[in-house]
Formats: sequence, structure tokens, C-alpha cells
Amino acid sequence: MFDLRGKKALVTGASKGIGRAIALSLAKAGVDLIISARTGSELESLAAEVKNLGQACHAITADLAKHPDVLRLADEAKNLFPTIDILVNNAGVSHPESAIETAEASWDHTFDINVKALFFLSQQLVQPMIAQNWGRIINISSQAGLIALEDHAAYCASKGAVEMVSKVMALEWSKYGVTSNCVAPTVINTPMAEMAFPTPEAKASMLSRIPVGRFGEVDEVAAIVIFLASQEAAMISGDTIKIDGGWTVQ
Ligand SMILES: NC(=O)c1ccc[n+]([C@@H]2O[C@H](COP(=O)([O-])OP(=O)(O)OC[C@H]3O[C@@H](n4cnc5c(N)ncnc54)[C@H](OP(=O)(O)O)[C@@H]3O)[C@@H](O)[C@H]2O)c1
Repeated sequence: MFDLRGKKALVTGASKGIGRAIALSLAKAGVDLIISARTGSELESLAAEVKNLGQACHAITADLAKHPDVLRLADEAKNLFPTIDILVNNAGVSHPESAIETAEASWDHTFDINVKALFFLSQQLVQPMIAQNWGRIINISSQAGLIALEDHAAYCASKGAVEMVSKVMALEWSKYGVTSNCVAPTVINTPMAEMAFPTPEAKASMLSRIPVGRFGEVDEVAAIVIFLASQEAAMISGDTIKIDGGWTVQ
């Protein structure tokens, strides 16, 4: 089960955290990769690691807050692999601010990366998937797209938008064999989580709401991505798999 050998994937936000784990898990499953992030140095070391696993790997830097960069990333990716079978829209940012203090610049930056880039990259890469009647678009949303979180107005709104745009893509493209789904994690141990919840008090407050009693690990998110990318998940489209340790049952 879950045999992905021979597939080609693009993973955004692959330089660290969840994206890095997804890239490595895809490579271990036999997938050739294009990895992208804003900065290059961590991408190069990841590319070397992926090549050691026996898979092709190309690194492309792009600032997904800039629409021309999104289009350039899509063009360069298509030049390397004319058909990307699996697109993992993972890159994301969070600017924790109270609703009163949320600045227009952080709202726009959050939406440009979390929503606009995710949609237009999918739009740019879907045609070859449609032509071969097989594709997987996997969007890393968040439990914050499903429930409210204090100091995260722009982030919650952006992830709610990811949930909806993922459903519309599923509605329009599933008939061509292209599924679109979200993975919605709770707090996962990454640099982003450390930035958003830096103090013992902030961590304890988040932990108190997770019935499983711990934060998630990046490999637990990657495992769901491997499943959604597989043939076995062909009937799942427009859905969201939560990895929230039970947070959202309350
Ligand atoms: N960690 C959590 O608790 C958690 C929970 C739920 C959902 N998520 C979601 O999971 C995804 C990954 O989160 P993470 O925790 O792994 O984050 P992270 O550790 O902060 O890594 C974010 C990744 O996104 C890239 N990125 C940021 N800004 C970018 C830009 N302008 N253009 C291109 N790439 C950019 C970063 O590249 P550079 O290093 O080059 O900037 C990095 O590779 C995000 O969508 C996040 O919202 C995370």
C-alpha cells in the first residue's frame, strides 16, 4: 500500500519544519522532488539528503508573498518535471497579534502566502495533472482554519480560506482524477510553533486543550500526506484530515 514510486512532487516551505519532513517522507516513498522555500541554504542541504536516498531533487527559491515569484516557481517546476503528480502546498506564515493590534501589512502577508500563492500555484500546475487524469493537491491548513485561536485573526481567517479553496478545487478537478485535500494539524513541534508559543505559559495553555496531552511531531503530519498522495486515497477529495490530538472535539 501507499506505493508512490515514480511520482514527481513539489513541496513548498520545504526548508524546515513540517515541509522538510514531508519532503523526506516522499523521497523515502520513491518520489522525485522539487523543493522550494524563500531562502536557499537549508534547501541545498535537504536536496543533498534527498539525493542520498536515491531520488532526484531540485531546489528553487521563491518568495511566495510575491505573485511573480509564484508564477516563476510554477514555470521552473514545469521545465524540470512537465507533470507534477503531487503538489504539497505547505509554506505558511503566522504573525501572532491580538485582533485589536492586527496590522494591514501582516494581514496581507499572511493571505498572500497562505492563500493566494497556494491557489495560484495549484492553478498553474493542475493542467498536466488533468491531462493524465491523476493528481494530488495536498494543502497544509491548520486546526486554526476550523476553530478560533486568540491572537490569530489573520492566520485563522487565512486557514479557513484554505479549507474552502481546497473544497472548490476538489469540486472542479476531482472528475479529472485530481483530488484536493487539507491536513489540519494542532501545534506541531517546529520553528513556527516555537515562534508562536515561546513561553512555558503559552505552551501550557495550548497543551491544556489537547486531550492526547502533547504537541504533534512533523513525521505525524508527513504520514498523512503520504496517505493522501497514494492511490488508496483516490476516493478522498475536498476533505480535511485533522491531526489535533482531540483539540477540536471540545
Ligand atoms: N507548526 C505548527 O504548529 C502548525 C500547526 C498547524 C499548521 N501549520 C502549518 O504547517 C505549515 C508549515 O508550518 P511549519 O510549522 O513547518 O513552519 P516553519 O517551521 O515556520 O516553516 C515554514 C516554511 O515556509 C517557508 N516560507 C515562509 N515564508 C515564505 C515565503 N514568503 N515564501 C516562500 N516560503 C516561505 C519557510 O521558508 P524560509 O525558511 O525560506 O522562510 C519554511 O520552509 C504552514 O502552512 C503552517 O501554517 C503549522
